[in-house]
Amino acid sequence: MRQHKLALCKHHFLEWVCDQTERNINKYKMFTKGDRVLVAVSGGKDSLALWDALNKLGYTTGGVYINLGISGDDQYSLKSQSLAEKFASDHNLVLHIVNIKSDYGKTIPEFSETNKRGKSKPCSVCGLLKRHTMNEIGSRKGYDVLVTGHNLDDEVSVLFNNVLGWQVDFLRRQSPLIPAKEGLIPKAKPFCRFYERETAAYAILANIEYIEDECPFSEGSTTIQNKELLNHLEHQRAGTKLAFYLKFLRAKKELFADLEDDKYTEALFSCPTCGQPTPKQGNCAFCRMVTRS
Ligand code: AMP
Ligand code: FES
Ligand code: ZN
Repeated sequence: MRQHKLALCKHHFLEWVCDQTERNINKYKMFTKGDRVLVAVSGGKDSLALWDALNKLGYTTGGVYINLGISGDDQYSLKSQSLAEKFASDHNLVLHIVNIKSDYGKTIPEFSETNKRGKSKPCSVCGLLKRHTMNEIGSRKGYDVLVTGHNLDDEVSVLFNNVLGWQVDFLRRQSPLIPAKEGLIPKAKPFCRFYERETAAYAILANIEYIEDECPFSEGSTTIQNKELLNHLEHQRAGTKLAFYLKFLRAKKELFADLEDDKYTEALFSCPTCGQPTPKQGNCAFCRMVTRS
């Protein structure tokens, strides 16, 4: 690992990932051993590696898998669901499964066709549905925190994009931990300091079976273009991505210290249909989407 000036054997690498995960959880005060942790598992390397590490560290975890009804050439959703299920049963862990088509009547591509948000690609409809569903399951099943497998490359790509467009609101909110708010369970990203190569190496060395294909809709996305660009910079100077992210977290305290944090503190309303919090009175964006389609 050039960025850390560190070379480890298999045994010590697996141990290192678990130790660093625990350090990250404590550093950003994400959760404790007494909490019930809900892991959002996509069947990919990051979220399964995260579930594995948390389980090895002795945290109390359950998983949630959302079947989005995406087929592509390779039955993307079916394949990823079966890998998430296999991991859960091999490790004797609970996995909650949500099927968007059977629960809400349509698959993600179908919702996207009938929805303004998804004129080009279904990704924004998909993001809205995932956020809503994860929070709904987490709250209903009594979990204390929701964790996702976002890694450093994901975070840096989003950060880069937000800086390019000076999206101040998004920059203010980008954080390893989004604290709880009325009706919203806290969200944490314990892998946010690991390079994608490191989470992939962990998954392989820990013998985790994961889906290698990306979602078919991610092809040509801005996120992927940003990742390529940032990999280029990283190649020229090892550690660039980590420094960009960590220095941002430090600078954030200063940048936003004297700005009123109105977006965090503004009151939320309860959606009359689903009961989940929403920034405006009336049905939440999720319910509007489901009823409109
Ligand atoms: P992505 O936005 O696809 O890069 O995924 C980021 C994180 O969101 C993953 O590491 C998972 O923790 C979670 N996630 C993505 N897709 C799903 C899904 N279908 N079901 C549950 N969690 C998911
Ligand atoms: Fe949601 Fe691809 S559109 S995962
Ligand atoms: Zn609603």
